[in-house]
Amino acid sequence: MSFQATLIKWYQKNKRELPFRDTVDAYKIWLSEVILQQTRVEQGLPYYQKFIMHYPDVFALASASEDEVLKLWQGLGYYSRGRNLLATAREVVKKYNGVFPDEYHELLQLKGVGPYTAAAIASFAYGRKVYVVDGNVSRVLSRLFEVKAAINTSQGKNIIELLAEENGDKKHSALYNYAMMELGALVCTPANPACDVCPVSEYCLAYAHHTQKLLPHKIRNRKITHRWFYYLMIIHNDSIYIQQRCENDIWKSLYEFPLIESKKVISKNQLQKQLMEFDITEFEISKPYFHQLTHQKIEARFLIAILKRKLKKNITKNFLEVSMDEFQKKYAHPRLIEKFLNDFLKQHQ
Ligand code: ADE
Repeated sequence: MSFQATLIKWYQKNKRELPFRDTVDAYKIWLSEVILQQTRVEQGLPYYQKFIMHYPDVFALASASEDEVLKLWQGLGYYSRGRNLLATAREVVKKYNGVFPDEYHELLQLKGVGPYTAAAIASFAYGRKVYVVDGNVSRVLSRLFEVKAAINTSQGKNIIELLAEENGDKKHSALYNYAMMELGALVCTPANPACDVCPVSEYCLAYAHHTQKLLPHKIRNRKITHRWFYYLMIIHNDSIYIQQRCENDIWKSLYEFPLIESKKVISKNQLQKQLMEFDITEFEISKPYFHQLTHQKIEARFLIAILKRKLKKNITKNFLEVSMDEFQKKYAHPRLIEKFLNDFLKQHQ
């Protein structure tokens, strides 16, 4: 039996039952793939189900508001994916009457749809002979063919692309793609590949040469920027002030407390001076809350000020005034703020 047939046979016997694999509905496939980028299946699945419940088809999603979509997306991170999701749904409705294109290159033109997602939709929904390359597939190929180049360089990526193309199953592209991804997720795992139960170990060069744990090669990425956030939680009666992030930066379009950002730690004295501008003289500082992204590390502290009077209009003109409950239920906000709020509410109940 060929490598491809062996792999597919293994997949059919060992696959996980996942709702987005039981369908050829391009909307569901697209939605699941956007959610699952950089997210594990266990974490992404409840989001997929929530989205399908709220928006059973692309027309329902296209008519949602950005705030609504981001609120459902809250906790998944990489919020530009959430924003692109809505933009693409609207484009598919407007330009394609709600039917996703069936051509790889046309799919690639959609916002937030890269080579991986375009290949997934073209193959899973339309049976096109294109091959998906995600992290799992790259790892599997790098071991099967003992790829020496680092897979996160353009040279390494080109080699992997070529291997994917040359070795795909031309008759059963969708099944083959699912099988490669599943092998990477269940057997050919990053740290401890289960070669003793691998259906295709006899085809694997890394297995033959005992190099599987050394592969894939990757080069280290550029350094991490450190950012310090000081959030002002200003409480007046039962209200707090919030603002929407507008810049092209992390968490764009999400809501947060008024923010003082710095490239280094700010001392309590300096903070006191800055808060004078807000007419605030007394406040408490929370413990630090950390958020690690690929190339940056956020260290956030919350300055809690309980005021007897309202802030002046000229200070609050760009802020929204909402209750704590409204903020938590209606306004999408970063996970770091949610963590702080949960601690804060536990202490103040
Ligand atoms: N099956 C189809 N797409 C998938 C994905 N992105 N992750 C895991 N399994 C999948």
